[in-house]
Formats: sequence, structure tokens, C-alpha cells
Amino acid sequence: MSYENLIVEQKGMTQVITINRPKQLNALNKATIQELHEALDAADKDAQTGVIILTGSGEKSFVAGADIKEFADFDPAQGKDLAAQGQEKLFTFLQNLSTPVIAAVNGFALGGGLELAMAAHIRVASDNARMGLPEVSLGVIPGYGGTQRLAQLVGRGKAMEMVMTAGMIGAEEAQSWGLVNHVTTQEELMALAEKIAGKILNNSGNAIAAAIRAINANYEDGVDGYAKEVEEFGNCFGTPDFKEGTGAFIEKRKANFRS
Ligand code: CAA
Repeated sequence: MSYENLIVEQKGMTQVITINRPKQLNALNKATIQELHEALDAADKDAQTGVIILTGSGEKSFVAGADIKEFADFDPAQGKDLAAQGQEKLFTFLQNLSTPVIAAVNGFALGGGLELAMAAHIRVASDNARMGLPEVSLGVIPGYGGTQRLAQLVGRGKAMEMVMTAGMIGAEEAQSWGLVNHVTTQEELMALAEKIAGKILNNSGNAIAAAIRAINANYEDGVDGYAKEVEEFGNCFGTPDFKEGTGAFIEKRKANFRS
């Protein structure tokens, strides 16, 4: 499958999806959101892909936000539709994938760009990364889940400050706030993401998918996360991965989940 705004590369069981609109700092227009939906869906269904890495093309930007030029003349109904469609197709969709997604934040992650990174399961950043939700400077608020996920990751007080000031923070500060897990140099960023992917790939894909569902349950209205954990825990028993994992432990060998 080829895309207009994405580059998709397979590296063993890791798939790297690069958002490729560098002249527009990889801003998310409608077409790119649709392509990301399709690429993520295909990777998630592909048995040969165990981890997805999401990054931006060029040295300057991960994603500089939703495409402002595309929505500048929208009315309220179109604005609501933009946010609702985007959340459904990409941001909520990404958060709920069974395949872990690592965002490799290689520069500006602003507005919808930071929202995209926050919807991923894990975030790593290069030391030149700049992150923020500048929407109020445009007279609008974050619409791709940013008001919710930023507060979940950094706490309500810091989220309020970031959103109200529309300011940017650097990679080190983002790490100290818990917004990104690791910071490295630009040159080492993809290697770091691939190293984390390699560690994940040693483990059961079935159990990882169950863990994503259980962790995400904490953030769903009306869902008892502890009950979800009990259900997912129980469902792991007797699966081929469970037999392989427990069998390998008892036989004192390394489990092989991905053959
Ligand atoms: N949408 C559309 N185009 C964008 C863009 C965006 N979010 N961000 C950058 N671009 C375009 C610029 O318009 C420019 O294009 P042209 O050369 O055709 O004019 C090109 O990318 C390069 O950008 P700059 O010349 O501005 O580069 P810079 O280095 O001077 O500044 C920047 C970089 C600080 C990231 C600046 O581009 C910027 O502030 N971008 C907008 C960031 C932003 O406000 N993001 C939030 C978007 S709203 C949103 O995301 C809503 C939501 O939650 C749903």
C-alpha cells in the first residue's frame, strides 16, 4: 500500500510510519488523518508487525498540529465534525490499538501533533523537541483529546498552564513532567525507539494487547478498571502464548512468542 503523506517501512517485526509533509511541518490535514487511520489499521491487523513507531519527516518537526489552513474558515458544526472525526479515526483509534505504538518525537509536537504523541502508548523525544498545545493562541482549544490526555499525563495544574499560556516546553522539561519517557539526541532517536520495540517484541503480543485494554479501562467512563483487569487476566490463561511463556519458565528456556 502506498500513501501520499506517509512513508511506511518494515524493520523486522517493527513498522515505522513516518508522516511526510515536511514543507508543512507534517501538519495533519484530513487526508493525512485518513491515511494514518488506514496505515495503523493495516499494521495492527498484520501478524508480522508487533510494534509500530510513529515519527515525522525532516529534522524540524514531528507534527506541528492540525492543518490550520484547512479549517480556518470552518463554522461551529464543521469544527465539531473535525474534532469528532479526528478523534474517532485517529486519536481514540490509536490509543485502543492492540499493537503498541511508540511516538518518536523528533521536533515540534504542537497542538494535534502533541495530541497524536499523547495518544500513542509510549513517547520518546529527541533533545530538540518542542511540545505544546498552542490552540488558545488561535482562538480555539485542543480538539483531538489534548485537554484530557495532557491532564492524565502531567496532572491538571501543569495541563492548565500549558494550555492557557499556549507555551512550548523542551524535551528535558517534558521528561521531568512525565510527558515523554526518554530523551536522546536526534541521531539516536530512532535507535532508541527501536530498542524499546525490541524489548516489547520479546513478550507475548496477546498479553500486551490485553494489558493495553486493561490500562486504558482506567480512562473510560463507567468502566471498572480492576474488573477489566480480572477479566483480561483470566482470558490469558490457556492461550498459546500463556502455554509458551509459563512452559519456557518451567523448562528454563527463553520464551519464543513470535515464531
Ligand atoms: N497547519 C498548517 N500549516 C502549518 C502548520 C499547521 N499547524 N504549522 C506549520 N505550517 C506551515 C507554515 O504555514 C509554513 O508553510 P508555508 O511555507 O507554506 O507558509 C510551513 O509550515 C513552515 O512553517 P513556519 O514558516 O511557520 O516555520 P517556523 O520555523 O517559522 O515556525 C512553528 C514553526 C513554531 C511550528 C510554526 O509553524 C507554528 O506556530 N505552527 C503552528 C503551530 C500550531 O498552532 N499548532 C496547533 C494547530 S491547531 C490544532 O492542532 C487544533 C486541534 O487540536 C485539533
